[in-house]
Amino acid sequence: VTALAELIARRIRMAGPITVAEYMAEALGHPEHGYYTRKDPLGRAGDFTTAPEMSQMFGELVGLWCLATWRALGEPRPFRLVELGPGRGTLMADALRALARTRPDEVHLVETSPALRAVQETTLAGAGAAWHRDLAEVPEGPMALIANELFDALPVRQFERTPEGWRERMVGLDEGGRLRFALSPAPAPCAIDRPVGAVVELAPAAIALAEAIGARVAAHPGAALIVDFAVAEPGLPTLQAVRAHGRAEPLERPGDCDLAAAVDFAALAEAGARGGARVFGPAAQGTFLRALGIGARARRLKANATAAQSAAIEAALHRLTGENAMGRLFQALAIASPSLREAPGFGGPPC
Ligand SMILES: C[S@@+](CC[C@H](N)C(=O)[O-])C[C@H]1O[C@@H](n2cnc3c(N)ncnc32)[C@H](O)[C@@H]1O
Repeated sequence: VTALAELIARRIRMAGPITVAEYMAEALGHPEHGYYTRKDPLGRAGDFTTAPEMSQMFGELVGLWCLATWRALGEPRPFRLVELGPGRGTLMADALRALARTRPDEVHLVETSPALRAVQETTLAGAGAAWHRDLAEVPEGPMALIANELFDALPVRQFERTPEGWRERMVGLDEGGRLRFALSPAPAPCAIDRPVGAVVELAPAAIALAEAIGARVAAHPGAALIVDFAVAEPGLPTLQAVRAHGRAEPLERPGDCDLAAAVDFAALAEAGARGGARVFGPAAQGTFLRALGIGARARRLKANATAAQSAAIEAALHRLTGENAMGRLFQALAIASPSLREAPGFGGPPC
């Protein structure tokens, strides 16, 4: 039992069951024992690996996407690059290398984890970046924004259709005092038509963030690229826990396992549009990266590589774009100023 599991159990004993979203927020973001507060979870020695950690090609192409959309918007100043949830800073470092000839005027990183901010400060030493805990702290104005695997870390609420109607899934305690899922006895205000047994997930923080991004790019020239793992089959719960590159139980070892829920891209697109933006996509990550030219980039890298390096580039290309790998499971969405007519990777011209 982790220290955080004991704290959550004590809270439930005092005030009753908590929502799945409250549990997820505590497990990931508790100021002392939260998963992201405490550790750097990325890479082979950690719990999972993200696209920028697999290959420099990902961050380079995302950097070029930012440059191309900024140019298409008429090169508004300042050229402000913003990243939400920058992890180890690898994506931003690769993007800035790709933008060596057109440096952004400002780099802003939004990060809640002190452990990962420390890693970013090392990776991005000399980049002149400014750190924030919330997008609201980033100055208003033109921006090219990136969020890779940030939205799946934002808390979700879960609702289950029972024969008596919709009920919220909560986290309570079993007779032994262990955390367990239980349905709230109170009816949930849910009007979706689904069969008994269906579970829907709602991500209020993700929706609010997509709407805020939409409002920003509606008020100032800008574009945001959101890449994440997507809901494949509506009606099933997607909350999952990962530890040491394997599946774990979501209620076991809170603070020690990553928790993530698949992203509802249709809901993000609606929220961005509600904020006043033009939305492009979603597109499958494989389709998006191929349209940006990942094949040509891999060939150029392989031209100067050893046989072992070539094999690694080929393997990363497959993981990022393969139908049975991240290519279809992950999706990309752009939330942009209404004046942006076309977006690279979404049917627009290549970068
Ligand atoms: C799964 S990691 C992805 C890291 C990086 N984007 C990558 O692709 O390697 C999630 C990142 O989002 C950060 N994060 C989690 N919740 C956040 C929040 N509410 N606001 C900002 N960053 C957050 C984490 O600390 C971490 O840097």
